[in-house]
Amino acid sequence: FPIEAFREDLISWYKDNKRDLPWRKDQDPYKVWVSEIMLQQTRVDTVIPYFQRFLAQFPTLEHLAQAEEEKVLKAWEGLGYYSRVRNLQTAVKEVSTSYGGQVPSSPEKISKLKGVGPYTAGAILSIAYGIPEPAVDGNVMRVLSRILIVEDDIAKAKTRVLFETLVRELISKEDPSSFNQALMELGALICTPQSPACLLCPVQAHCRAFEQGRQKELPVKVKK
Ligand code: ADE
Repeated sequence: FPIEAFREDLISWYKDNKRDLPWRKDQDPYKVWVSEIMLQQTRVDTVIPYFQRFLAQFPTLEHLAQAEEEKVLKAWEGLGYYSRVRNLQTAVKEVSTSYGGQVPSSPEKISKLKGVGPYTAGAILSIAYGIPEPAVDGNVMRVLSRILIVEDDIAKAKTRVLFETLVRELISKEDPSSFNQALMELGALICTPQSPACLLCPVQAHCRAFEQGRQKELPVKVKK
């Protein structure tokens, strides 16, 4: 598999085609964190105005750490899954008291924070700190299952670990932020679940599923 050409084609497409999203304006780890938590169970279009209001109300990690829980929950109203924001406030308080307000840049430390799973840890480390860590969610598994023809069941926990191993091999060490976000963007805009737009895909030449006409068979997800 031509890793260098794949990376280059993916990242140059991303730089030319990425959406102008409010959390892509800077690399503040706190803002990246808030956006990734909001985006976990909620669509981009819904998240945008919530993200902007939330950051206007709690502009820094310290503002969120010091805020009354009631005000924080109120700002989240309508997004649902309120444990996300309760865990986020617990975690930013921990960052404030244990790390002097600096979001840790080590995978071990950041992963101990409440509500920060492997995906969120990898997203913050790569996007805010430029550290080459995988950020594997369902979209990334769909994209890579097609490019490499991985037929493991994506509903199984160990399959995410397999994809993390693959991303560690593929990821750009020069620009891990663009690499991870390019995979997310490809999944959102081109390599969609039902009818992927393979004719527009920047990595069509590297896609084993496209070559075999099998893109609609992947990923494999066994219903429970
Ligand atoms: N979905 C999850 N994280 C995202 C991000 N950083 N940009 C766009 N969509 C996303």
